[in-house]
Amino acid sequence: MIDNKYEVHFAPLQGLTDASFRRLHAQLFGGVDFYYTPFIRIERGLFRKRDLRDLTEETLDNVVPQVLPGSAAELQRLCEPVFAKGLKRVDVNIGCPFPPVMAHGRGAALINNPDTLLDVLDGIAKISAEAEFSLKMRLGYDSPDQWKDVIDAINSTPLRHVTMHARIAKQQYRGECDLEAFGQFAQACKHPLIYNGDLLTTADVQNILDRWPGLRGIMIGRGLLADMALARKLRGDTLPDFTTAFQQLHDGIFADAQARMTEPRQVAEHMKPYWDYFCQDDQFRRELKAVRKSRNADQYEAAAAALIARMARG
Ligand SMILES: Cc1cc2nc3c(=O)[nH]c(=O)nc-3n(C[C@H](O)[C@H](O)[C@H](O)COP(=O)(O)O)c2cc1C
Repeated sequence: MIDNKYEVHFAPLQGLTDASFRRLHAQLFGGVDFYYTPFIRIERGLFRKRDLRDLTEETLDNVVPQVLPGSAAELQRLCEPVFAKGLKRVDVNIGCPFPPVMAHGRGAALINNPDTLLDVLDGIAKISAEAEFSLKMRLGYDSPDQWKDVIDAINSTPLRHVTMHARIAKQQYRGECDLEAFGQFAQACKHPLIYNGDLLTTADVQNILDRWPGLRGIMIGRGLLADMALARKLRGDTLPDFTTAFQQLHDGIFADAQARMTEPRQVAEHMKPYWDYFCQDDQFRRELKAVRKSRNADQYEAAAAALIARMARG
């Protein structure tokens, strides 16, 4: 259990933490102070339909839309649908390590291109009266010292908080988090700071907060998919019956996917990635394999039902 002064943020995960998932998680598990949308971006000059739909379908108050700008002008444009929906918080991603994103000068490429980052930070300052902005970043692109090139500009930008994923972009999501470099950043950063990276258990969270008690809070992604009650555990709240809540969440996201997607194959492809996190226990590998091999919604539904029943038996 952690002190209530610390905020718990559910990290954005493309393809996974969509509006349907966020709503069901908040309803069935909770314990989270802020949810984030996966990044909203512009592709070949246009908004992606699914990003706008995700925003339209949003029903939670405590959601922070995340945007992926490559310039101040793009930031302004990305904020338009957010403001039109009446939302007053925006998270700006400058840490995405996916090569196609970085190749277009977005995400972690901005840490490698201070001039473009300054343009985006300037863009935040210009529209900061319209919303509270936050920044989600990494230590650097190919060195854990690169934040030093941009920290002064970040410190002088009006921000609610900064979230630091304690890796460099070259690592993507693997390898050790660099806690030493994170500590240096924590000393230099004048904004309230949120730690992100590899928090899987309450003990992991406690270790970080013991080491940096001045943090505003923590952000958890994969750890919350693997244990959807983790935030509740951190809060010391009574826990829902896990098997029942898990089944309801699973059935809810599956039903929403079926309602939204026309191709049965699409539904199966949408659901399968959740299982990379939902179940990592080798004793269920036969059932998991059947889920991964499913080719349409019916096959998926049968395989997932067998897996969930097997997990419930233990
Ligand atoms: C499949 C996947 C999708 C992700 N999508 C996003 C995203 O849209 N925006 C973002 O800022 N980070 C994204 N991330 C990074 C996570 O938000 C988080 O920073 C990272 O997973 C480290 O935290 P964790 O160890 O608690 O998962 C993604 C990560 C994964 C694995």
